Amino acid sequence: MSEATATTTEAKPSGAFEPRIAAFVCNWCTYTGADLAGTSRIQMAPNVRVVRLPCTGRIDPMFIVKAFERGADGVIVSGCHPGDCHYSAGNYHARRRFAIFREIMSFVGIDQDRITFSWVSASEGRKWGDVVDETVNRVRGLGPFTSYQNLVEKTNAGA
Ligand code: FES
Repeated sequence: MSEATATTTEAKPSGAFEPRIAAFVCNWCTYTGADLAGTSRIQMAPNVRVVRLPCTGRIDPMFIVKAFERGADGVIVSGCHPGDCHYSAGNYHARRRFAIFREIMSFVGIDQDRITFSWVSASEGRKWGDVVDETVNRVRGLGPFTSYQNLVEKTNAGA
């Protein structure tokens, strides 16, 4: 059994709620920062599943809606710091898009506290660990997010 698996299975008493977090990250900064966190053996919550994309500008807000629909309790969106995007302005587009998207999320009943938007560079492995831990702790406090899934199931059943 790997060390990571052993830590995961020993960390929590059985039956305790462990949030499932989907992280949409850009390839050039945050993914590399997350990789650095791993190779540096920085300890963090094991609840995050990373989806790597070329740039935060490529992250369609529907990815987030779908993640919640398919069982995520929280979502992280993270990319290069402003001014550092490898495609010049992808993260500026993402920042503008998500400012509007947050309001839409509230409108459809998704608590904004379930979403973390951050900038993590390739050299910020420690920061990635902090973003993960803060998000997992916040979402753990909010509890399982089933209301949106239930709404989608009801809608699909009635269709
Ligand atoms: Fe990282 Fe655009 S390449 S945000």
